[in-house]
Amino acid sequence: MRILVAGGAGYIGSHTCLVLLEAGHEVIVADNLCNSKEESLRRVQQLTGKPILFYPVDVTEEAAVEKIFQEQHIDGVIHFAGLKAVGESVEQPVRYYYNNVVSTLTLCKVMKRHGVNKFVFSSSATVYGENAIPFVETMQLLPTTNPYGETKVMSERILTDVAAVEPDWSVALLRYFNPIGAHPSGRIGEDPQGIPNNLMPYVTQVASGKRERLRVWGNDYPTVDGTGVRDYIHVMDLAEGHVRALEKLCEEKGVLVYNLGTGHGVSVLQLVHAFEKANDLTIPYDICPRRAGDIAEFYADASKAERELGWKAARTIEDMCRDSWNWQRQNPQGYEV
Ligand code: NAD
Ligand code: WQD
Repeated sequence: MRILVAGGAGYIGSHTCLVLLEAGHEVIVADNLCNSKEESLRRVQQLTGKPILFYPVDVTEEAAVEKIFQEQHIDGVIHFAGLKAVGESVEQPVRYYYNNVVSTLTLCKVMKRHGVNKFVFSSSATVYGENAIPFVETMQLLPTTNPYGETKVMSERILTDVAAVEPDWSVALLRYFNPIGAHPSGRIGEDPQGIPNNLMPYVTQVASGKRERLRVWGNDYPTVDGTGVRDYIHVMDLAEGHVRALEKLCEEKGVLVYNLGTGHGVSVLQLVHAFEKANDLTIPYDICPRRAGDIAEFYADASKAERELGWKAARTIEDMCRDSWNWQRQNPQGYEV
């Protein structure tokens, strides 16, 4: 298939482009590079030996998206083009709602005009809010407490409503848990701008000496060791899940919702110790007060994706720790060479 990957230069997008190319699909990327570098795409092409057609466009701009669809035959769209910093979304709600919701609407509008009816959407476990664990796809969604999370709920709703009136459409809402890791080559990986918010990029920057000490946000949660528990998933497993979902959309119409997680919870300190062990390093850390808005513990019920997509996360927490460090070690400045 010829797939338009919106946000394909980013962290998850670049790994998904690689897996798509390796699976024999053709890839067209639309990305405005607001949180990524074109270098990621150059490296994906190097790794696969296959070309990517790149459009440096903002997918909220209808005319620019229209031009892509006029110039290219497209069989399906994967939409990664979102802003994703939770704290920033509280500070800049208009920017987040505009970017993340209008991008979904614009893609739907142009796809409809061109008769393209397969849509894979990057959703998030954040849509479950503070629900009972494990999170199951059938749960009623609870409020997410920040604009970022609401943009995911809204986009899910928009796509569900579109699919309800377009009998030919098939939509996959993929709810990611906590993606970490990198391609085993260390050539592509997560390249956060500024001080990382997320745990793993912070840990790797402490390991490289770029940051002094990790701050562990709270050790008084009702969890195994008092620190927050998450379902960390290797980005390569996640990328493979997208390809499986896309293939499923060729067989089935309507809206398909899948958790993409491992089904296992890992605490902050368990992750830190796994990282130390996998890489033979020490990560100095301080226990600090809880971070506002954090939930004590969540992980996926990952059985639906296994049952229906034949997909199951295969890589271990050790693989994730080793590959994250391999990327950081080889690229201390990210894609800035
Ligand atoms: P990322 O920032 O690395 O990638 C997003 C890409 O989209 C970037 O290359 C950015 O330049 C591009 N982009 C953003 N807005 C755009 C626009 N209007 N037009 C064109 N390009 C645009 O983030 P990521 O971690 O790869 O996340 C990809 C998607 O997955 C996002 O939608 C994010 O919300 C979602 N998600 C991420 C996580 C996570 O922890 N990384 C978890 C759940 C869901
Ligand atoms: C993981 C754990 C922290 C940093 C966020 C979004 C979510 C999704 C993924 C997009 C928590 C602790 C972290 C640090 C720490 N993104 N931590 N010190 O918060 O589960 O999820 O990213 O959809 O929507 O909310 O991920 O990596 O920030 O935190 O102790 O410096 O690590 O408190 O327990 P989170 P995270």
